[in-house]
Amino acid sequence: MTTTTDILARPHRFEPARVPGRDPLLLLHGTGGDETDLLSLGRALAPGAALLSPRGSVLENGMPRFFRRLSEGVFDEADLIRRTDELAEFIAAARAAHGLEAPVAVGFSNGANIAASLLLRHPGVLAGAVLLRAMKPFAANPRPGHSATPVLMISGQMDPIVPTANANALAVDLETSGAVLTRHVLPTGHGLSQADLHIAGEWLAAHGQARSGSSTET
Ligand code: MLT
Repeated sequence: MTTTTDILARPHRFEPARVPGRDPLLLLHGTGGDETDLLSLGRALAPGAALLSPRGSVLENGMPRFFRRLSEGVFDEADLIRRTDELAEFIAAARAAHGLEAPVAVGFSNGANIAASLLLRHPGVLAGAVLLRAMKPFAANPRPGHSATPVLMISGQMDPIVPTANANALAVDLETSGAVLTRHVLPTGHGLSQADLHIAGEWLAAHGQARSGSSTET
């Protein structure tokens, strides 16, 4: 039987809140990153918020990821399901251990993709999500119509890894699942820009604790 101690043995960083009332952030790194990668981003986006930053538990040629892929942009969905469920368990265990509210995910690339999978498979585990360069995780949307979670999705118009049609398909899946979606498409590639940080910081400040609202696209 897997115990809470086993679940929390997963490599991760936790920084307690310094400012009360801010949603905790769940930081999810990209391929080849680790649990330290997004800490400074999290501090900049939501100063004083608690930060929970797990390491992806799969290795691809020595690079940590959150789930296996068969090739670039082609996911091993059975592994994605397993790792998504493990991540949901980790979040529950960390919330209980640290007395945290449901977190808002901030995910980049592979981390954004597992955050999207969490939103679709485990409605309610996340209080919100910032998806930076996310792709549609499942060929078929697993559980439509379950949540009204606020989600910010920022895509790159010239992203060589995430085709526009794929990002659009993810937006449809999220909206079908009831997410309250705000979308931005920036004139950039897969890497993050200052505009990402500005938009994400403003959205977190305005919507971090929102549970409902209206869909917008820019
Ligand atoms: C993925 O595999 O999750 C995406 O292709 C993004 C990446 O990590 O390169």
